[in-house]
Amino acid sequence: MINAKITGVGGYVPEKVYDNAYMESIVDTSDEWIIRRTGVKERHISDDNEYTSDMAIKASQIALENSGLKAEELDLIILATVTPDYFTPACACLVQKALGAVNAAAFDYNAACSAFVTGLTIAKQFIAAGTYKNVLVVCADTLSKATDYADRATCVLFGDAAGAAVVSATEENGIMETELGSDGDLAITALAYRNSDEENEKRVSKRKETIWMAGQAVMKFAVKAMADASLRVLEKSGLSWDDITLVIPHQANYRIVDSAIKRMGITEDKVFLTLEKYGNTSASCIPVALSEAVAEGRIKKGDKIILVGFGGGLTWGAALLEW
Ligand code: COA
Repeated sequence: MINAKITGVGGYVPEKVYDNAYMESIVDTSDEWIIRRTGVKERHISDDNEYTSDMAIKASQIALENSGLKAEELDLIILATVTPDYFTPACACLVQKALGAVNAAAFDYNAACSAFVTGLTIAKQFIAAGTYKNVLVVCADTLSKATDYADRATCVLFGDAAGAAVVSATEENGIMETELGSDGDLAITALAYRNSDEENEKRVSKRKETIWMAGQAVMKFAVKAMADASLRVLEKSGLSWDDITLVIPHQANYRIVDSAIKRMGITEDKVFLTLEKYGNTSASCIPVALSEAVAEGRIKKGDKIILVGFGGGLTWGAALLEW
């Protein structure tokens, strides 16, 4: 039986910071409101000429270095983004070129903020089938370039970042269980390129390329989706919460995380958060947090962890890994 395991992980955030004082200067909000309702204090923002692939390349280089693998040993690069530099070429191809991963196939995919767990699931399938040995899963987004900075209900939430993981064939336990789901009926987080006057009316700036969402409905959905998906991977593995060292959830809003973990029946000491520093950075939230948790020694070899996310689409997913 061939298993798939993360052998190296990396994260990157741009230098520029929008703190809550800056948000107060551009929209009618307050540091107190943002912290109480979201938990976010700062977001990192890409420069005008810094794009998704630029951040993805940096995170990928760190993940590769940590895995000890050479770029030529990669068989496949999959990259998730909702803010690609181009529709074509795929961002994954830009990463492939920059890394010199001359033997790797490359493509982009989109599962919004659930995409890291989705990517691990894809990588595991290719590895378990014997098709590939080494897959690079990259999640990167410059959400700031799609954020409506006239809309106080969304602009305080989002930041930019990239996270990457090398997933390799092994006989050890690695990605043990995954669970994915979607509900297209609930497509309430929208980033539209099609012309729709009805959708555009919902945006404060009326700019169709910016993110619009029904915050309350997303919150309600997210709490249930993250708790249920985590419980499902736990159940499939035959393990209990006592076996789990750490949970890394998608970092969209502290209230969502808090309600979801209550529903899971766990306490915050089992949860790793970067929300305060980075806000919601789309699919990269989980790999960036994972990379920091590993660097801080919160995850050690043999530990079992759960990664769980939800996002636009709507989509959701959880993965149970042995480190
Ligand atoms: N500062 C001050 N007031 C704000 C504000 C801000 N940044 N944003 C919204 N408000 C106001 C609203 O206008 C509203 O005012 P009103 O009562 O006068 O109409 C009030 O706060 C309450 O708005 P509401 O939307 O009910 O707040 P909320 O508690 O749901 O918080 C979100 C709003 C967006 C923070 C929250 O719904 C959320 O985080 N949703 C999930 C979003 C998400 O995760 N999206 C990404 C999916 S991957």
